[in-house]
Amino acid sequence: MLVLGIESSCDETAIAIVNQKFEVLSNVIASQILDHQKTMGVVPETAARLHVSKFDPVLKKALNEAGVTMKDIDLITVSNRPGLIGCLVTGCTFASTLGLIHNIPVVGVNHKLGHVYSCLLDLKEEIEFPVVVLSVSGGHNELYLINSLNEYKELGKTLDDAAGECYDKVAKMLGLKYPGGPEISRLAEFGDSKSIKFPDPLPHQKMNFSFSGLKTNVKNKIQEFAENGNLESNKANIASSFQYAINHNLSKKLLYAATQFNSNEVHLVGGVSANKNLRSMILEKIQKKNLKIKFRHPLNFNFCTDNAAMIALLGHLKLDNQKAQSVIIPQ
Ligand code: KG4
Ligand code: ZN
Repeated sequence: MLVLGIESSCDETAIAIVNQKFEVLSNVIASQILDHQKTMGVVPETAARLHVSKFDPVLKKALNEAGVTMKDIDLITVSNRPGLIGCLVTGCTFASTLGLIHNIPVVGVNHKLGHVYSCLLDLKEEIEFPVVVLSVSGGHNELYLINSLNEYKELGKTLDDAAGECYDKVAKMLGLKYPGGPEISRLAEFGDSKSIKFPDPLPHQKMNFSFSGLKTNVKNKIQEFAENGNLESNKANIASSFQYAINHNLSKKLLYAATQFNSNEVHLVGGVSANKNLRSMILEKIQKKNLKIKFRHPLNFNFCTDNAAMIALLGHLKLDNQKAQSVIIPQ
């Protein structure tokens, strides 16, 4: 069985084809990052208009790379929630039209769940349940418990900003490019992570997160350095100390949940899972505490950030209870 996934919930126009062994036959992503750098963030209407112009070439490329035609596709899945409404409408309209033309069922799926299961893509081994998943990206930040392939439970979430949003905003304050995560992580390598001690965010809620206070703390620190005329020489220290504070908080809460639920594996997914410092911090904490926990992150960078392979995967997992339908309503 082949599933064709369509993703356009934010600023990536993506189409992928995945088989029942969760092997990714093609994973085409047309990123709008360069368009949104001009505005230092995503302008929803610009993003929606760009999706419309990119679906056709992206579809052709995805079919070519997989070596298949629309006749070989058994199911179409499309992100229909959550996301920017104009962007979701374009994806759902494209998916529904494709389904009607080729007589293929279309199912709307949850983008956040796509991230949750993204470590399964191209994985050659079996997963050992239970698994605790930390999903961190620009728009969401949650902890999940997965007891089987089609059973998941949310354990905690951010009360305000997501970690990726915080990375992006701090980068903006430091005059860096969008998206801010990779920029902060590059600059952090030149700084000292112990030079500034930012307070640990929301320490008493073990599985919920809050990053708006940390954002304000960084803003105040930047202002303090600017007033003293030494901001430029301290930018790397700010990036490094901020990265330490946010990653320490994320990894601590992930491993707290893992020990509470006796999990055999922890998975780090979503755009922020590309952060090397966060990956090594999680591994260090597992080793330091002598925990028998396997750590996984998506096998490919393109499975960390928004992609359609994870959306196609959901078609195989049959997680969503929505029945196959040819009219998909964005939510
Ligand atoms: O999953 P994603 O592509 O989109 C959403 O669903 O939001 O995540 C994008 C987020 C951005 O906030 C970006 O700054 C962050 O992931 N990100 C990173 C890194 N690469 C991307 N954050 C920290 N370190 C990175 N290396
Ligand atoms: Zn996402």
